[in-house]
Amino acid sequence: MPDNALYTDLSCYYDLMCADINYRSQSDTVHRLHQIFGNSGLKYLDLACGTGPHIEYFIKEGYQCNGLDISQSMLDIAALNCPEAKFELGNMCTFETDSSYDLITCFLYSIHYSGDIENLNGAIKSAHKALKTDGIFCFNAVDKNHIDNELMAKHTVLHDNSEFSFCSSWFYSGEGEKQKLKLSVEKTTTEITQQWTDEHPMVAINFEALQNLLMPYFDVHIFEHDYDKIITWNKLSGNAIFVCVKK
Ligand SMILES: C[S@@+](CC[C@H](N)C(=O)[O-])C[C@H]1O[C@@H](n2cnc3c(N)ncnc32)[C@H](O)[C@@H]1O
Repeated sequence: MPDNALYTDLSCYYDLMCADINYRSQSDTVHRLHQIFGNSGLKYLDLACGTGPHIEYFIKEGYQCNGLDISQSMLDIAALNCPEAKFELGNMCTFETDSSYDLITCFLYSIHYSGDIENLNGAIKSAHKALKTDGIFCFNAVDKNHIDNELMAKHTVLHDNSEFSFCSSWFYSGEGEKQKLKLSVEKTTTEITQQWTDEHPMVAINFEALQNLLMPYFDVHIFEHDYDKIITWNKLSGNAIFVCVKK
């Protein structure tokens, strides 16, 4: 099984895996942050958009939506979920467009898919270049020094006469600039169980280093990872929402 099977062979299960994520409240929070810090313009790009769950909400808010992802299988589903949006196959670390976006997002920790610090820097530079002067780049991230290798998120969904169990967890060895996202999918149909596991290599970084990468390009505001209220980051939490206003 390739290490990105979830986004290729298993892409049809992706929306089930994310069934417990409140995409509406995430999107509402980003929309509010854009109204507070950005220019309120409506040209929107979602990086690593997957099957387009954020784009679905931004379409309802009247945005002109675009999505970019490295997996054609995920984009095929996104195009069905969001027929009003435009999708492009591409790498967020190297993509190029004119400076025409008001808002760029990258959620579900997908910025870490840039893989290493050099490519993360590439993603930051590409997003900066693609924004209008007062546009914002908004994403969530995890600080490598706060990863608890014992923590695991698990949920179960009944679908199509089968029971699906999805597990995800971070792993960081404690050294270097690589962490892993471990994922597993279990499908049980009439007592027969199939299991798939993925390990996704991702960039590991602490928040001080991430701010230092962002600051040459953006004014950086950091918030607690809370989609019910907007609270300034307490400088201790290991998960946060970054709002970066183009300089
Ligand atoms: C965890 S999913 C997140 C999808 C969506 N943002 C969400 O919140 O549900 C990660 C996505 O990142 C995409 N991806 C991974 N590496 C990428 C890269 N270098 N450039 C663009 N997309 C990438 C994968 O194909 C996958 O669709």
